[in-house]
Amino acid sequence: MSWIDDKATAELARVREAREKQVYPYFREFESGGLHTTIAGQPLVNFSSNDYLGLTNHPKVKEAAKKAVEKYACGLSSSRAQATTTEHVELEKRLAKWFGYEACLMFTTGYQAMLGTLVSLADKDTTVILDSYSHACILDGTFLAAGIPGRAPEVRFFNHNSAKSLERILKSRERKNALVCVEGVYSLDGDKAHLKEFVEICDRYEAVLVVDDAHGTGTLGERGTGILEETGLRDKAPVLVSTFSKTFGGIGGLVLASADVVDLIKNNARSFLFSASLPVPVVAAASTILDMLEADGPAMVRELHQKADYFRGKLTEAGFELGASNTHIMPVMCREERKTLFMHIALLECGVLMVPIIYPAVKHGEERLRVNITRGHTQEDMDKALELLKTYGEAFFVLSGEDIGPMVAP
Ligand SMILES: Cc1ncc(COP(=O)(O)O)c(C=O)c1O
Repeated sequence: MSWIDDKATAELARVREAREKQVYPYFREFESGGLHTTIAGQPLVNFSSNDYLGLTNHPKVKEAAKKAVEKYACGLSSSRAQATTTEHVELEKRLAKWFGYEACLMFTTGYQAMLGTLVSLADKDTTVILDSYSHACILDGTFLAAGIPGRAPEVRFFNHNSAKSLERILKSRERKNALVCVEGVYSLDGDKAHLKEFVEICDRYEAVLVVDDAHGTGTLGERGTGILEETGLRDKAPVLVSTFSKTFGGIGGLVLASADVVDLIKNNARSFLFSASLPVPVVAAASTILDMLEADGPAMVRELHQKADYFRGKLTEAGFELGASNTHIMPVMCREERKTLFMHIALLECGVLMVPIIYPAVKHGEERLRVNITRGHTQEDMDKALELLKTYGEAFFVLSGEDIGPMVAP
């Protein structure tokens, strides 16, 4: 045994204990794709999926991917600098138009898109200013930039969604240029960025706003182009980052900006230049989803909101607490680790998957079930989930908020 085995043994104690108690909730193996799948042969409905418009499994999307496999195979065996196809370029042009930007660049994941964007834009003349609830890709992109010798930007955080806190940081920053990064919708809490206030402050302090709209793409704004469409602030966000891993039903990252800024990122971002290009079947699937959004976006987005409103109304009526959520992402707050894990397991036994979010992903006392309503959920799916949530919410004292006491796992 080397020190790395000792390290693994020591650091995995918590995971091992959870596995022994059969409450380890992650890496469960789906046996088919889509919101309706099976685990170990048992049918289930996935309520933690980000397939917000329920398009991943659409026959047209799968057909487009199959055709692309025939023509381009499953991969291009190289990075975009050496392996760009007409399909990549065509989709980038269409996406730029749909989102309302001059140019678009597709990365292999959204995580890489954010890394490449931040490392390309932030340098020693920059203060990068982040919301304290920022997604891992924003944190990692910033820390990567901060680790580059001779180029490290200043890094500061503001209190989640607080315009006052952002202004304090902007006032006291040490570098000339400011890059402020926010998310359109925060994925664990389901609350939208206070964009109007942030835009006003960024304008006053000549800061550049980067918006990661991974969870607003396909869900906000009449056409579904996101938080900037919903707020009418498209012109105020010079850089937009998004992903194909939610509404676009596959994988892939996007950055949208002016032609020059996109060109800078394209020629600088190591997470773009040194990683294989997006496989064309995935490009074809995303392109087909874009066709659908162009044709029927408003109707699909409306349907998503009708379902989310119904579910939210029923959850609230039953007495569940949904934290700061004001979107289709509605965390069911359990506020205790065991309650959250017991709820998760009891629901799963009955065919409903709601992934538990516990420490260290959230603070102690903020444990919750991840619940995302999508357009692909049926009325029956939602009613079954609501009944089960009520039953187990009472059984495990989530609804009453009482202490769960010395219980054993169900
Ligand atoms: C806010 C946010 N940004 C970026 C990403 C990364 O996207 P991808 O899955 O394409 O790497 C995610 C995905 O979880 C996300 O939630």
